[in-house]
Amino acid sequence: MEQVLGKELVEKLIGENGLFLVPNDDYYELDGIPFPTHLVPPSTLEAMKTWQARPDDAFIITYPKAGTTWTQEILSAICNDGDLSKLSLSHTFLRVPFMEAHMFTSTESVVYLQDIKVPETYEIVDKMKSPRTIKSHLPGHLLPPDVMKKKSRVVYVARNPKDLAVSYFHFHNTVPSLHSYSSWEEYFEDFRSGKVYCGPWWDHYLYYWNRRHGPNILFLKYEEMIRDLKSVVIKIMTFLGYTFSDDVIAKIVDHCTFANMKKNPMANPNELIDQQRAVLARKINKSTDEIKEEEKSAQPFMRKGIVGDWMTHFTVAQNEVMEAHIQEKMVGSGLIFDY
Ligand code: PPS
Repeated sequence: MEQVLGKELVEKLIGENGLFLVPNDDYYELDGIPFPTHLVPPSTLEAMKTWQARPDDAFIITYPKAGTTWTQEILSAICNDGDLSKLSLSHTFLRVPFMEAHMFTSTESVVYLQDIKVPETYEIVDKMKSPRTIKSHLPGHLLPPDVMKKKSRVVYVARNPKDLAVSYFHFHNTVPSLHSYSSWEEYFEDFRSGKVYCGPWWDHYLYYWNRRHGPNILFLKYEEMIRDLKSVVIKIMTFLGYTFSDDVIAKIVDHCTFANMKKNPMANPNELIDQQRAVLARKINKSTDEIKEEEKSAQPFMRKGIVGDWMTHFTVAQNEVMEAHIQEKMVGSGLIFDY
């Protein structure tokens, strides 16, 4: 992104507007899937139909909260030839742009700076040098068809749906670009019925799972990354056609641990999200009390990073409902999860 817009312009945009500066209750539906209007506008999904991919693109595609940011840091490290010093020069949001999202937007929806209309993220991606690393949350049927046609490399990460739900719940109450929930119970119903941004997790997962044997898809699970990060780094490296020494692999693994990413401002979106909340609060003249209330429900982006946090949220009854639901949706697919 900095390659295209220049560092100065990007800094100005982030400073003046905040990333994803959008109101949070304006959604529309496409194929029954809710999308936040200003974050992923209908015109972008239309443009995705003809967007041109490249064979050497490296995509990280996920349902939200499945391990995107973690994997995009690994992808970025690998596609920068294992040279971690390059990763410290630029924020992960800029190194691995979120293709279908309005990175720079506002409540007025279009951002002008120095009389230049800031391009859509996918237009910025168009102008980036290869090999590009790109993030997407698009459900398979809305992904640009050219990605599969050109056989661009796709790393897909799935996470057990119970932990996914918990992480997504807290995220809804943290970022201004998503609807916030007053209770876990209320959110649980929306998640279970697929009435959240990106729709039903099961359709999202199964689209990519059913294509996992294709040469351009690497299907991973968050829980295997937690269990053995080194072997996952090696898997991604091999999949993308790179070979590094044991020393470089060890450095990538160390760089991508939860503790190290949490304290790395170039890998952790916390600061940008906090800034986004602050800019929005200023713009819409929120009272100090309202801001304090929001801060209380907000969680750090790098929240816990563990397997099994669902146990602290699900009631026994909710767990039974969810178990039956997962069984029903995954039956015959062979896709199973660790909890
Ligand atoms: S997003 O907003 O969709 O891009 O979110 P995403 O990055 O997919 O998911 C955020 C969750 O991933 C956890 N995370 C990690 N876990 C372990 N190790 C590392 N390095 C790591 N980086 C991010 C992050 O803490 C969120 O999970 P929860 O359960 O909320 O802690």
